[in-house]
Amino acid sequence: MGTIENSAAGSLMSGLSGLMEFLKNSPTAFHAVENIRIRLETEGFERLTEADAWNITPGGKYYTVRGGSSIIAFRVGEKFAGGGFMIAASHSDSPCFKLKPNCELNVKGQYVQLNTEGYGGMICSSWMDRPLSVAGRLLVRKTGRGVTEFESRLVDLGRDLVLIPNLAIHMNRRVNDSQSYNKQTDMLPLFSCGNTDSGELLRMAAELAGAEPQDVLGSDLCLYNRTEPTVWGAGNEFISSGRLDDLECAFCSLEGFLAGRNEKTIQVFCCFDNEEVGSHTKQGAVSTFLPDVLRRAASALGADGEEFRRMAAGSFMLSCDNAHAVHPNHPEKTDTKNCVYMNGGVVIKYNSAQKYTTDGVSMAVFRELCGRAGVPVQYFANRSDEPGGSTLGNLAMAQFSVNTVDIGLAQLAMHSAYETAGAEDPGYMTAACREFFSARVFAARDGSIALED
Ligand code: CO
Repeated sequence: MGTIENSAAGSLMSGLSGLMEFLKNSPTAFHAVENIRIRLETEGFERLTEADAWNITPGGKYYTVRGGSSIIAFRVGEKFAGGGFMIAASHSDSPCFKLKPNCELNVKGQYVQLNTEGYGGMICSSWMDRPLSVAGRLLVRKTGRGVTEFESRLVDLGRDLVLIPNLAIHMNRRVNDSQSYNKQTDMLPLFSCGNTDSGELLRMAAELAGAEPQDVLGSDLCLYNRTEPTVWGAGNEFISSGRLDDLECAFCSLEGFLAGRNEKTIQVFCCFDNEEVGSHTKQGAVSTFLPDVLRRAASALGADGEEFRRMAAGSFMLSCDNAHAVHPNHPEKTDTKNCVYMNGGVVIKYNSAQKYTTDGVSMAVFRELCGRAGVPVQYFANRSDEPGGSTLGNLAMAQFSVNTVDIGLAQLAMHSAYETAGAEDPGYMTAACREFFSARVFAARDGSIALED
């Protein structure tokens, strides 16, 4: 497929086919963010860099990227006069296997394997016996004009390139009983029959990036599943793909963001990297990225610190990340009443310990918005004897604390290399987000929150 410039990535389409294209062309967080960036450019958004001064005006549309894998876009209402931020946040990363710096391993002079480590909590078995490839970014040294630059170039080796073979059942009689996977020994993908020179993988990647191998001074590469996204089922009611968690929400919230509009608020779309490893990175949801962008936008619009705090009090966030649908083989794994189904609409997630940010206030506001949009909602809560997962919303509260609701779409096999969701749900999520971005939430006099009609 080649680098992003010569891939099909530039033309991010709408609707279900657009989602499928986006999933196919976004093998890594870097590619997902680049595809979102290109879409924003086509929609007339202006790029801001964090190192430059920002000139922001009412009616303007802007975006900025941090670390190449997190992106925040915002649009200022034409009649902006201190209204709040209406924010939707999702994540760009998914569990996978990342290549270590010395990434080739020789086995008995006969095989070359790639040396990987796990990124996030993946279902190991789902990565085996299927064609995989390698994608990510290379940092290429460029000298001249008195500076040495390190240019980031996206690469996707784009063919069936490596595979992690299972051990035959004859050598592992317990494979169907209680298999455990050691990531240092069991999960290494086979790359060649030993007929390659050492450094072959980086040479291939460098060639694709149009760089000399000696000029590639850094890289962030990972394995991805080559199986393409598909629509299936008796009534074509399911979709399956790698990285549905959370690119499905990233895509739908972007669609809703581009379709909605409010002249009094600042509408904000964010997609953060590193949710799968805890969000504590310079571009993760716990970083200063979001408050930095919001403060700078407010300040460029003439709001001082006091006014920024008032804007924050009248702000609202959607934390968008997928939820667990009832499993057909294991319905007992979910709560008896607060369980969700694919194609049942947008999921509101609730957790008493606030791993999900939803509370009575944010639930009420979001339900009202979905009612206005004609979008069905369903409720998810973990079984009380299962800890369940967490997401980026409650972590982001440490840096920027606003009324937030945790929402998502129902899916099966979360963190598998090939996940499954409902084909109708992306439309529901997009409609809910469009309604959200068209609305204005504000802080009422008595400290409660209100929604403009
Ligand atoms: Co997720």
